[in-house]
Amino acid sequence: MKKAVIFSFSATGNTQKAVSLFKQALEERDIQTEIRKIDYQLCDYGTKDFDLVGFAYPIHGFNAPKIVLETAKKLQKADGKPCLILKTSGEPLQINNVSSCKLSGILKKKGYEVTNEYHYVMPYNMIFRHTDNMAALMYDTMKKLIPCHAEQVAKGERHLLKKVFLGGLLSAIFRIEFIAYQINGRYFKVDMEKCIACNQCVRVCPRHNIEYKDGKFTFGKSCLGCTACSFSCPKDAFHIGMLQGWKVNGAYDFSAEPARQRGHHERYCRRAYDKYFANAEKEIAKYLEERAHKAV
Ligand SMILES: Cc1cc2nc3c(=O)[nH]c(=O)nc-3n(C[C@H](O)[C@H](O)[C@H](O)COP(=O)(O)O)c2cc1C
Repeated sequence: MKKAVIFSFSATGNTQKAVSLFKQALEERDIQTEIRKIDYQLCDYGTKDFDLVGFAYPIHGFNAPKIVLETAKKLQKADGKPCLILKTSGEPLQINNVSSCKLSGILKKKGYEVTNEYHYVMPYNMIFRHTDNMAALMYDTMKKLIPCHAEQVAKGERHLLKKVFLGGLLSAIFRIEFIAYQINGRYFKVDMEKCIACNQCVRVCPRHNIEYKDGKFTFGKSCLGCTACSFSCPKDAFHIGMLQGWKVNGAYDFSAEPARQRGHHERYCRRAYDKYFANAEKEIAKYLEERAHKAV
């Protein structure tokens, strides 16, 4: 039986959902899969026992988060080992494809070859809140797409996303955001009238960047801007500096009825997402048809 390891970073659960589904789909195709969570506690970068290595992350400012790039740099060297990239983002914009440029470059230097790359649209954890129905529709679509993609991986069929003109340069420019997140993170504030000292924010910070001591919060210098803290705060007590206007707080209800966005941002969502859903439907239908054909 083949073996895969996927290094996965997820701040607010969307990418984690993608990776769990992918693991299940790979295992149904006889590829035993281990998920390694990327955070400040990750210490196992060994890959020699695996036939396939994966990276999964949410797109942050058209890039892979800094913590993901740092993890790739620490990976054990390989000799042409195939590599899978899974990413989630709030928008289906093609410019999001540049997010894997730097990661692919690092992996190449380490002796890995990115052979398969997939992008799933999931609800925003920053910028604006999708409706629960829209979130459920995105999740439902991803759930149906993942078996198609796992099948390609299992069969050894390559799948890379379309290259963007000057993608490497664009991604380098966007990485200025890493510094901005670090600076902005120092100015996070917690409304102590709302705070119930549950320490949820401290626990979920992938950088261990938040300290709560003697009734006071301190924020270190290594914020990723990932919003794990502010998204998961049960009292919406966080003020996230310059990003406050884009803050999204609280988990989505993915068990809602899957349906297009209604009301807030309805027109924008129709323009921005219709093509993604239409293409996904086509891809899923083609895969199901091929499967049905084989079964006959
Ligand atoms: C700092 C930050 C930057 C983001 N930048 C983008 C972006 O460039 N493009 C996009 O479509 N979504 C962007 N998003 C939205 C996330 O990629 C999306 O909600 C993702 O599914 C979250 O995954 P997670 O729950 O695994 O953390 C951004 C979110 C954050 C917090």
